Amino acid sequence: MQKHTLNTLYDNVETLKSHAQKWQSHTLSDAFAQDRNRAARYCISAAGLEMDYSKNPVDDDVLEQLLHAAKQADLPKAITRLLRGDHVNNTEDRPALHCALRFLGEPKTQEQKDVAQTLEKMSALITKVHSGDWKGFKGDTIKDVVNIGIGGSDLGPRMVTKALTPYHTGHTNVHFIANIDGAEIDDLTKKLNPATTLFLVASKSFSTLETLENALTARKWMLDNGCAQNQLAQHFVAISSKVDKAVEFGIDADNVFPLWDWVGGRYSLWSAIGMPIAFAIGMSNFNQLREGAGTMDEHFATAPLEKNIPIMMGLLMFWHSNFLGTDTQAVLPYAHHMQLLPAYLQQLEMESNGKSVTRDGIKVDYQTGSIVWGTEGTNGQHSFHQLLHQGTTPVPIDFIATLKAHHNIDHQHRYLFANCVAQSQALMTGRDEATSAAEMRSEGASEEQIAAIAPHKVHPGNRPSTTFLMEKLTPATLGALIAAYEHKVFTLGTLWNINSFDQWGVELGKLLGTHVANAIETTDVPSDWDCSTQNLVKKFTEANKNIDS
Ligand code: F6P
Repeated sequence: MQKHTLNTLYDNVETLKSHAQKWQSHTLSDAFAQDRNRAARYCISAAGLEMDYSKNPVDDDVLEQLLHAAKQADLPKAITRLLRGDHVNNTEDRPALHCALRFLGEPKTQEQKDVAQTLEKMSALITKVHSGDWKGFKGDTIKDVVNIGIGGSDLGPRMVTKALTPYHTGHTNVHFIANIDGAEIDDLTKKLNPATTLFLVASKSFSTLETLENALTARKWMLDNGCAQNQLAQHFVAISSKVDKAVEFGIDADNVFPLWDWVGGRYSLWSAIGMPIAFAIGMSNFNQLREGAGTMDEHFATAPLEKNIPIMMGLLMFWHSNFLGTDTQAVLPYAHHMQLLPAYLQQLEMESNGKSVTRDGIKVDYQTGSIVWGTEGTNGQHSFHQLLHQGTTPVPIDFIATLKAHHNIDHQHRYLFANCVAQSQALMTGRDEATSAAEMRSEGASEEQIAAIAPHKVHPGNRPSTTFLMEKLTPATLGALIAAYEHKVFTLGTLWNINSFDQWGVELGKLLGTHVANAIETTDVPSDWDCSTQNLVKKFTEANKNIDS
């Protein structure tokens, strides 16, 4: 079978491999000792973000080779193609124009004009709800807004809404429902008053099982609680690229906000899919989020490769994944409000770049998208950081920290920041056995105790990390950070010659899900299914046989 190797793409693979070999015996601490300017040299600032990548195993030679690869991949041209709306999503034959959603200045292209018009409509709706002009079926002001959506129609808006908690205006409480598990909507509706609740049904395709089922449940809840059929329009708004389907579902045509085929679901938080964000923080803050992203887009499009934050993020991950042998990456925001960033990035990176064939459908024999994981610092320090410090697999880490907090509990923010910096320092410097032994000796341990325990205290060190600093977590800096990750994904997709904008891999599970649901409903389990699947289905059918569907 034909396979695509990195050697097909790049003429310097062997050189990069020999540099990787060199870094096996060269430590990050050595690199810092040899170059007192290392932190300043391996640092890029743009759009309110500072990226310090000096604690990664790179030097000028490695960077030169990585930049050579970027040029061989024709990255600058790929960026131009992305931004001008070429059909970079070749398997779905369409552009990926999410940057048009956060244009700076006046709208110029038709896409930007459509976006501006939708944002105006969104602004009008939010003003009407916040001012109390929009009434529920009993004539009350709306107090709770519930976003029903999943994947890209949930993770981005949910993450940003949480991240920008200090900017919440307090006009409406914003909630999110995603899972087909009825427990989620059941738990939430128990706490809400139907007369003061507005549902946003967010689905680009308007055919996603979870979203449609949750929307039906929400509609039933409204009708069961006194809302008449002809009053439902006061409680349901939809965001979709399939306006007709939303209308057919029963949403008033005036309450449907368009989305376009040229926006991928996981890239859509800047569109009307971001409505829950705007409900929480107001339209002007939402626009600042978009502007922050727009500023990062401009940086991505114009900064030289070596001074370009998203490009450097992509090149570093390429280096880690394809030459240094890592297959996961951790994202550790040292900010409680950014706790959902890892979950958001899981979809962004893994749904985009978890691919095994090139843009032309040829199998690749190199690693593509890696596993993204993480949680908010300092919580992870009391959990999985053990593996980060002493496990056998080095994990490249993104630390994200803010210089200033939104609250005024200054000493806690100092501890938070100090811990973030100390973690990257400890991971890099490590601690050898002799140091641990000396410390134990000074504490009065016997030589026997030292021999038994000191090996367990060894921190191998030399563990890579990048630190992203921002002055404060604002809508603009958050927008810039998210856009940087979006473009990192594109950079990697270009380097790997894969399409970052389709997601065929989620289809088979969806299809088989409907088959299994059908087998449960009809109690007709196909005998050619494997016996494990048959057994599991039969157990469920048996356990639920007396329940009316
Ligand atoms: O199942 C994957 C997926 O198609 C994602 O790509 C998308 O973000 C999510 O489902 C939700 O899709 P929709 O917005 O069409 O409901």
